[in-house]
Amino acid sequence: MGTPVLELRDVHAAYGRIEVLHGVDLVVPEGSVMALLGPNGAGKTTTIKIASGQMPPTSGCVHVAGTHVNGAPADALSRAGVCTIPEGRGIFPNLTVRENLRMVTFGGVDGEAVEEVAYTRFPRLGERRHQLAGSMSGGEQQMLSISRALATSPALLMLDEFSMGLAPIIVQELYEIVKQIAREGVSILLVEQFAHIALSVADYAAVMTHGRIQAVGQPADVEAELSGAYLGGVA
Ligand SMILES: Nc1ncnc2c1ncn2[C@@H]1O[C@H](COP(=O)(O)OP(=O)(O)OP(=O)(O)O)[C@@H](O)[C@H]1O
Ligand SMILES: [Mg+2]
Repeated sequence: MGTPVLELRDVHAAYGRIEVLHGVDLVVPEGSVMALLGPNGAGKTTTIKIASGQMPPTSGCVHVAGTHVNGAPADALSRAGVCTIPEGRGIFPNLTVRENLRMVTFGGVDGEAVEEVAYTRFPRLGERRHQLAGSMSGGEQQMLSISRALATSPALLMLDEFSMGLAPIIVQELYEIVKQIAREGVSILLVEQFAHIALSVADYAAVMTHGRIQAVGQPADVEAELSGAYLGGVA
């Protein structure tokens, strides 16, 4: 196995004086899909914030592609190939589809090329290029957020509650695209409330409860752990 695309070692994190991550170890091998699962409040979003540079750890190490990046700001991490689609999609609802795509300009990315790639992958976005992003359906908005993310050619794509509020059939459609993106070589860290969907696309899964990783392994190995973590819930 090569250098992991993301590695967290004994990461602690706090909001004010309240520690919420108590020593998180997590490795995303290059070219793999890792599902990060666990109940509400476990620390999944906080873990993504640490890995994307939106929040510094109070202690521990964060490595991206073998480089120690603790405390590096989010824009530096995004230049290093880390891209996040946050909870709530991270698009601009009052701009059109086209304007949202054209805004992805850093690193000399050509706006026209970004549009073309997006409309080829999602013809529906092409048909709606002049529509305000906020007036599209939830699934269409996620197509837009994926297109914006991929325009930066990320090495690691992190998705937080990607399927939130979407109909199951749309979720399946979007996860087919996630699989396709993974096949194109992008490593993915997936936080997902629907454990069965996440496990169906993941190479590895980690179960987080109370700010710690309780289990990690191949999907089949962590399934038992999961029903415990959710107290007999959604797994
Ligand atoms: N901005 C904040 N200020 C203070 N506490 C916070 C903040 N964000 C999260 N927390 C707390 O940190 C803990 C972990 O939250 P986090 O959002 O990482 O959980 P999560 O696993 O993503 O949960 P969910 O599944 O509900 O999204 C929770 O106890 C939460 O209340
Ligand atoms: Mg969350």
